[in-house]
Amino acid sequence: MGEYSKVVGQVQSIVKKQNQWRKKECINLIASENVTSPLVDAAYQSDFSHRYAEGEPGKRFYNGTKYVDEIEPICNELAKKLFSAKMANCQTISATVANMAMVRMFTQPTSTVISNSASGGGHISHNKMGAVGLLGNNQVSFPTTEDGYHIDVDAAKKTIEKTGKDLRNRFSLAIFGCSMFLFPQPVKELAPVIKDQGATVAYDAAHVLGLVAGKKFQQPLAEGADIMVSSTHKTFFGPQGGLMLANMEENQWKRYRPYVFPGVLSNYHLHRFPALAIAFAEMLEFGESYATQVTKNAKFFAQALAKEGFKVQAEEFGYTESHQVMVDMNPQGGGKQAANKLEESNIILNFNLLPFDAGSKVANPSGVRIGVQEMTRWGMKEGDFGELAVIFRKALIENKNCKDEVLALRNRFQKVQYTFDLPVA
Ligand SMILES: Cc1ncc(COP(=O)(O)O)c(C=O)c1O
Repeated sequence: MGEYSKVVGQVQSIVKKQNQWRKKECINLIASENVTSPLVDAAYQSDFSHRYAEGEPGKRFYNGTKYVDEIEPICNELAKKLFSAKMANCQTISATVANMAMVRMFTQPTSTVISNSASGGGHISHNKMGAVGLLGNNQVSFPTTEDGYHIDVDAAKKTIEKTGKDLRNRFSLAIFGCSMFLFPQPVKELAPVIKDQGATVAYDAAHVLGLVAGKKFQQPLAEGADIMVSSTHKTFFGPQGGLMLANMEENQWKRYRPYVFPGVLSNYHLHRFPALAIAFAEMLEFGESYATQVTKNAKFFAQALAKEGFKVQAEEFGYTESHQVMVDMNPQGGGKQAANKLEESNIILNFNLLPFDAGSKVANPSGVRIGVQEMTRWGMKEGDFGELAVIFRKALIENKNCKDEVLALRNRFQKVQYTFDLPVA
């Protein structure tokens, strides 16, 4: 045995511990995560992970790609069907990469992009430190209403018109969609105003893609978005990856293709494709019942947490219409302390800025962001989230360690739901 063979055993042991802990013993409430079905997992492990296929089906810069050319169009066609989109591209390896290509498609350095600010829930891609800024654009934020969870439509119309008058920094792109995402965004109301200024309307559905697919959230393309970018693994059932959908004619879409390849991609991680195709099929078959349960669970959990004494955000708007619940944890010592305390009891979520937090509080913000989508996929329903709210009270208000209760609760949900009852090949 070579000197380094013990690394193998060490790695295998780490993987085993990870699988045991996060997959079997934790209540996972990170709003950007999910779990894939055994069918998707099996399809993910294949020879495709060893291969290259730059280009697109039928037009490759590598040989040996005949089966990539079979699987990639299946993904594109299922994506188009699921989202009633004219064009689909499943190549980008994450939403951040999809955003980079998308921003480059519709802007020139010194263009202006209007998007959600970090405190308004926007993603880094849409702001100065991410794709928008890296590509040399100015960024202007959509104004929000006083609660901080909605775009102020009247004020936004004025911002759009004023931004459109700046001829030096041409207003080229508006991006809807958030990371802290409780309510639909006013795409229908603002898309015509944005287009009047000659700008493109984009929607980042990374967080809510599974709810859009299940028709339980707004339908951005039907409401006027020209392009939608996304992750495939937050509320959606896919392996980690990116997605671009557009309501454009083929000629126009083709003109933008070089920004994907070779713009932001060379190899694009082909092993995602068989897994993604199955995830699309699962969504087409089960998406509506899954998304219905996710939105019911989120609302119920928000109400239950409020009843247990937590400061759940956006009460006056019914707390949430998505998979997320935001809670002000200042009475419990702040978001970070609450998240760490919950982890001691095997409950995993993340601390998060709330709209009233200064940006400087990013490492120790007031809030936590909760997502119910993964535990919904494991089969939890409203009553189970009621039990979880009681555990939150015991852990965070009564300062008890609740690991045993969490293990017992989690033990009841060990099989991924909303998938086909078929043998794993
Ligand atoms: C709105 C939004 N866009 C993009 C991303 C980035 O997604 P990915 O991890 O697929 O790059 C996130 C991540 O959470 C997000 O919230």
